[in-house]
Amino acid sequence: MKIALLVHSQTGKTMRFAEIIREQLQGTGHDVTLTSLKAEPPVKAPVKQPWPFRLVDVGDHGECEAILVGGPVWAFGASPVVMASLELLPLQGKLFVPFVTMALPFVGLGGKQAIRSMTTLAAAKGAHTLPGHAAPLLFRRQGAIMEKSAQDLAQNVLAAQEKQSNGSM
Ligand SMILES: Cc1cc2nc3c(=O)[nH]c(=O)nc-3n(C[C@H](O)[C@H](O)[C@H](O)COP(=O)(O)O)c2cc1C
Repeated sequence: MKIALLVHSQTGKTMRFAEIIREQLQGTGHDVTLTSLKAEPPVKAPVKQPWPFRLVDVGDHGECEAILVGGPVWAFGASPVVMASLELLPLQGKLFVPFVTMALPFVGLGGKQAIRSMTTLAAAKGAHTLPGHAAPLLFRRQGAIMEKSAQDLAQNVLAAQEKQSNGSM
């Protein structure tokens, strides 16, 4: 499957998560492109719509069957760069998986909310949404959480791909 992996990462944590996810997906035979989401001027704090920035190069990704988008949790919600990119991406009919990293220890402190808003927007645009993944900074176990989440994510994508090829999705 052709998969686009797009990530907003200010300090590198979510990029690391994305790289682990890419490795897992490539290991299960997918063709993955990883794109870094950048805003101009750079966004350093939560902002509201109308977005006071433009996205530099989200890319087209029309040919991809799955689009995975990740970013940091900011102010108990999704990064504005991620939300702005979801508005532009061609999500209709595609598999969609959100993923986030966060500095607080429990997913209820922003991770769940961020994943919910990303999922709601993608579903409204016609995507087939799969469960999202949050990697909190839990007792320094964030790396292990990323590894396990990436494995689960790759399994979910494979299962969805099978369902699609059986015509049951
Ligand atoms: C402006 C701002 C707001 C943040 N708000 C939260 C928050 O509400 N909850 C949380 O757990 N972490 C919060 N963080 C921490 C980031 O989510 C965390 O460090 C994340 O892993 C950074 O990802 P990155 O390295 O990909 O940018 C915030 C960071 C910034 C810069």
